[in-house]
Amino acid sequence: MSDAIISITAHDGVAVLAVHNPPVNTIDAKVRAALGDALVQLRARDDVRAAVLCCEGSTFFSGADVGEFAGPPMEEEYRALFNAIEALPYPVVAAMHGTVMGGGLEIALACHARVAAPGTRFGLPEVTLGIIPGAGGTQRMPRLIGVEKTLDMVLSARPVDTETALDYGFLDRVIDGELRAGAIAHARGLAAAGGTPRRTGELAVDPASASDEIIARFVEQANTKYRNRTTAHTAIEAIRASARLPLAQGLELETRLVNEAKRTTESKALVHLFFAERETRRVPDIPADTKARPVRRAAVIGAGTMGGGIAICFANAGVPVVLLDTSQEALERGLATIAKTYDSMVQRGRLTAEAKAKRMQCIGGTLDYAALGDADVIIEAVFEDLDLKRRIFARIDEVARHGAVLATNTSTLDIDAIAAATKRPQDMIGLHFFSPANVMPLLEVVRTNDTSAEVIRTALDLARTLRKTPVLARVCYGFIGNRMMEGYAREAERIVLEGATPRQVDSALEGWGMAMGILAVFDLAGIDVGVNVHRSNADRYPPDPTYYQADFALHEAGRLGQKTGKGYYRYEGRRRIDDPEAIAILRARAQALAVPQSVHDDAEILERCLYPLMNEGFRILGEGIALRASDIDVVWAAGYGFPRYRGGPMFHAQTIGLPALLAGMRRYGERFGPMHWEPAPLLVELAEGGRSLADWERERAQRSESR
Ligand SMILES: NC(=O)c1ccc[n+]([C@@H]2O[C@H](COP(=O)([O-])OP(=O)(O)OC[C@H]3O[C@@H](n4cnc5c(N)ncnc54)[C@H](O)[C@@H]3O)[C@@H](O)[C@H]2O)c1
Repeated sequence: MSDAIISITAHDGVAVLAVHNPPVNTIDAKVRAALGDALVQLRARDDVRAAVLCCEGSTFFSGADVGEFAGPPMEEEYRALFNAIEALPYPVVAAMHGTVMGGGLEIALACHARVAAPGTRFGLPEVTLGIIPGAGGTQRMPRLIGVEKTLDMVLSARPVDTETALDYGFLDRVIDGELRAGAIAHARGLAAAGGTPRRTGELAVDPASASDEIIARFVEQANTKYRNRTTAHTAIEAIRASARLPLAQGLELETRLVNEAKRTTESKALVHLFFAERETRRVPDIPADTKARPVRRAAVIGAGTMGGGIAICFANAGVPVVLLDTSQEALERGLATIAKTYDSMVQRGRLTAEAKAKRMQCIGGTLDYAALGDADVIIEAVFEDLDLKRRIFARIDEVARHGAVLATNTSTLDIDAIAAATKRPQDMIGLHFFSPANVMPLLEVVRTNDTSAEVIRTALDLARTLRKTPVLARVCYGFIGNRMMEGYAREAERIVLEGATPRQVDSALEGWGMAMGILAVFDLAGIDVGVNVHRSNADRYPPDPTYYQADFALHEAGRLGQKTGKGYYRYEGRRRIDDPEAIAILRARAQALAVPQSVHDDAEILERCLYPLMNEGFRILGEGIALRASDIDVVWAAGYGFPRYRGGPMFHAQTIGLPALLAGMRRYGERFGPMHWEPAPLLVELAEGGRSLADWERERAQRSESR
């Protein structure tokens, strides 16, 4: 079997080992077995003076098999294999191309020389999965480039290009011509030079690269960039040890540390999200052979904040897009904002001026619906007004070509009611982008009962084109993300009425890991935006006179957030400053509403904000709004700044334990009354039955299979 995965060819004394494990040459069990066999074959031959290790397809080994993380530790196996490569008596050259990450780079470090095609990228991104390089990377890389640069690569988790790799010194040469031929020539040259091969493991680490000062700098970085996490510190410990331990002992320490890292909640959470993000496109109830419709041209209606951002997403993906608005003025304003967004990217060196020009050429403007006739997807992003949207879709229905996907970016409106304005509800879907649409990775894809399987598939594939992470939802008020936001934000606002300062609430949330405290988020989004939503949906809300009253009080005082320089905070540029005036307004409102005052510690703030958020997740799952618990986790990690290392709200609920969450909901229910603290039926069922979310999902799948 290994023959198919690896081929060995001889080129006048140079053996070329070419691995073929599509799609991205993951170093899985099959590859390791094949490499092991190949080494046995090589050792049996006496005509080999050098070897080249390379891969077929789009990339050199892209990394280890993340799927093995949950199983027994594999490090010993990697270690033995890589040591065996390093121990070969003649030079082995790694010939790399594509994206060489993690274990892929580590195998190259165990070779005696490394060459690469132009454009190759190299990285050790393990900390993003809560682990450290575990196949020799923490011990071999410092022997080539020193402790400081290794720490830089590992803690930044960002890939480097060939120029940096050459400069750092773990890459020996860039091969401009044919990679394999260049690598063979390089190997032959090393063999001709004679002597024993240059084994990375036998090199000494430059002690100056591991000074106390350097280590202190990275410890500081680990504390700030990886707050609440241990992995970065573990990586520092392992990499630092390379300066004092011989390779064999260093590798043993690395193995121990990586296995400890894998057992942390942080790593389990990050690996959970890694797979969750790959799972979201799987929709059990649509036939496997459902084909997506091609999307070659797009149209966006409404050239405002969202419409402009969505147009940028299409242009970035090279899909021509036309923007439609009601007046030339609105259109020009929208196009100017888009140009400004690109300009700032050019200024920050993120985009060349030519690329900007090319992308701007992808974006057209029109006032005429006839111009939408050839679009394969039409996304509406006008004001949040049901009648307006219905009128617009009736108009779209007249001009859109047969088979065009019709989408609305509504945040709160009933998509069934919008679809009913057309004669083709099967083509209608919600595409809920997040602001700024060109930056935020999340796309909630909202199906109605009428949306066809083909349209769902098209939307999920379109997300990939637009480099978004899609999550499928069903229609309900707020879909997945905003619906869960309701209780979270409600409590934050209520707590400031009870006497906590906005800073206290936001600091507790940020200290715990949220990207931004919720009150600061409101200031950023605009207090008026929230107030408008609450006003137009007042009839949906429970009879609580204090409900969202912090927002209302600030709004009435003309404090609309960052755009007016004042909201929950005062702003100097983007800097938040505590503002006694805001606090006085909140106190006055609390007094008028007779809200009892109390003292809050961080634990209470976190529980009161996060328990309702997680509880609503159980409702959403129980009602079938979300397909699976992990989809909910993806929504919050990709769209709402939930700390990835806590795995998302549903994962976190299991970290604290479902019985603890249920008890917490009941405890606050006793204190504040049941109105906002009713535990979700699914939470009660699982917590009281001693079952996990995975148990429930498994049973549900079995039930639907047997039907
Ligand atoms: N802003 C956000 O954070 C956000 C996030 C997700 C979804 N949304 C939703 O996206 C939609 C748009 O929001 P926005 O923030 O971009 O609003 P916006 O006010 O910035 O832009 C709306 C645009 O629609 C145009 N418009 C109004 N009536 C029109 C018509 N009849 N025909 C064509 N164009 C018309 C306006 O001229 C304006 O350019 C809303 O449904 C909103 O709920 C907004």
